[in-house]
Amino acid sequence: MEALFWRDSTGAIKGEMLAKVFEAILDFIGPRHYASQLIQCEVVNHEQVGVPPDIFGTFFGVVGETVKDILGADWTAEMETAWTRLLADLDYYVTHPEQMAKT
Ligand code: HEM
Repeated sequence: MEALFWRDSTGAIKGEMLAKVFEAILDFIGPRHYASQLIQCEVVNHEQVGVPPDIFGTFFGVVGETVKDILGADWTAEMETAWTRLLADLDYYVTHPEQMAKT
């Protein structure tokens, strides 16, 4: 995917994207006002810049692994369980971008 970030010479695009991803995750695990629809929209929007939809699942997994690496010894079994559940829940919206909510 790195080649697709050819415009991002300063890292600002990746930075803004990651900030939006964390905001969306916080909404997704909380009030879920917008995050599920945002993810579905971004799956469709990003296809236009060449990001295959299934990469979103990989990407969220990498975000989780990176948080785990950074936390080191502070990563708990509870966090592991919560992230595993989060990744499974996110997967529904990645694989169903047609805006139907999970029932
Ligand atoms: C929920 C997940 C995601 C969100 C909310 C999101 C959000 C965004 C936003 C807001 C931008 C524009 C940033 C700017 O122009 O300053 C952007 C650009 C971009 N995103 Fe994502 N993104 C997500 C997932 C992904 C994934 C999984 C990939 C592939 C690894 C990806 C690849 C890109 C690329 C290549 C661009 C730059 C396009 C360009 O040059 O205009 N994004 N994303």
